[in-house]
Amino acid sequence: MSSGDRAAQNYSYTHLSAGDLLRAERAREGSEFGQLIDNYIKQGRIVPVAITINLLRKAMEETMQKDDKKFRFLIDGFPRNEDNLTGWNTVMVDKADVKFVLFFDCSNEVCIDRCLERGKSSGRTDDNRESLEKRIQTYLQSTRPIIELYEKHGKVRTVDASRSVDKVFADVKAVLDKEG
Ligand code: C5P
Ligand code: MG
Repeated sequence: MSSGDRAAQNYSYTHLSAGDLLRAERAREGSEFGQLIDNYIKQGRIVPVAITINLLRKAMEETMQKDDKKFRFLIDGFPRNEDNLTGWNTVMVDKADVKFVLFFDCSNEVCIDRCLERGKSSGRTDDNRESLEKRIQTYLQSTRPIIELYEKHGKVRTVDASRSVDKVFADVKAVLDKEG
């Protein structure tokens, strides 16, 4: 189980992964976005936010409709670029309050090795070296600046994610116990 899943389970958060939502939409029969999402994921590029924010909003609304106590979310893998952030600000600004960003800090090399290892069984079309190199480029060019923006507002909580899942989770737990 990932640290995100564990954190959600131990606290009253619902874990929503933007990547998981996009992969589900890609697989949904009759989706008009399947091919586009497939291309973007293989290229390690960020899907236009109009698609992603709709999936996120729907998932959040459905969760709260089923159980009105479930209004706290751990949103994983979002916002990944300026377009994502603009979309969030447009659609969510008066609906959701962003407490902080959990930043799992890890070297590119370790991330690539972990994803290649995961690729042996994940079946993901982007857990291969070619896609991973592109994902790193996207991260450096588009995602880093967003993290820096949140940092300026004192909203980033950094966890050293290069260690074992247990150690990483202990740090995540400490952040959530303090202010989650
Ligand atoms: O977070 P995850 O590793 O599941 O993301 C996999 C891919 O999904 C990204 O490389 C990107 O192509 C797509 N994605 C996106 N927008 C997001 C999150 C993921 O386009 N906010
Ligand atoms: Mg993810």
